[in-house]
Amino acid sequence: MPYIISVVSQKGGVGKSTIARMIAVEFARMEGGSWQVLIADLDPSQATAYRWSQWRKENAMKPDIDTRPYASPEQVMADAGKYHIVIVDGAPNASRDTLRVAQAADVVIIPTGTSRDDLIPTVQLANELERNGISRRTIVLGLNRVGTSELENSEARHYLEQTSYRVASGELRDMVTYRRASDLGRAVTETWLGELNNRARVFFRSLMKELSDANQEQPGER
Ligand SMILES: Nc1ncnc2c1ncn2[C@@H]1O[C@H](COP(=O)(O)OP(=O)(O)OP(=O)(O)O)[C@@H](O)[C@H]1O
Ligand SMILES: [Mg+2]
Repeated sequence: MPYIISVVSQKGGVGKSTIARMIAVEFARMEGGSWQVLIADLDPSQATAYRWSQWRKENAMKPDIDTRPYASPEQVMADAGKYHIVIVDGAPNASRDTLRVAQAADVVIIPTGTSRDDLIPTVQLANELERNGISRRTIVLGLNRVGTSELENSEARHYLEQTSYRVASGELRDMVTYRRASDLGRAVTETWLGELNNRARVFFRSLMKELSDANQEQPGER
């Protein structure tokens, strides 16, 4: 059985693809590279799916990451059995598919920026998923594009934590280098600045901790 991670959001541009790529690269590097990892791209334009992995190939980045476009969650599920880990990179905006990819997943990650414009739709989406049968335990919120204001960051974290959803303790700073790295087919843990890679890895590990806690079943749950 593949382990399926869906990365979804209510709003576009919050970092789904950035986070999906980071998770894919880090998993593909684990266990001596023995895990088959897929990024399943549900962007309906289907153009972005190959681009990043093409740039990765052009820049001779290893490991190769299998990145494929899919028209529907059902098509992802039909392919999922060939992989150990499937990371579903959700469509730009929440749609009917968002619930279906969440239902198919072991865990759902919702990235969010720090502004209220980002935080409110994030929590609304989590609530909607929960209303539709997704266990609260399997929803993980992660702060992305965090700026340099300690006050803004702590207020954003507080806003998320008071909802009692899982919140990754790490966060991804907003960095030009992360964008530039992505343009070269790299993940945020693969930039040319060791310090930024380390910070991104702290974020990755904090997500992993939430994912692993999310899938520890509680007696009587589900
Ligand atoms: N931490 C970050 N620092 C700098 N730039 C970032 C960061 N995270 C994301 N970006 C940039 O913001 C833009 C949107 O990010 P990304 O494509 O990951 O979001 P998305 O949620 O997948 O968007 P869409 O909804 O369009 O699919 C991209 O240009 C990306 O490089
Ligand atoms: Mg995207």
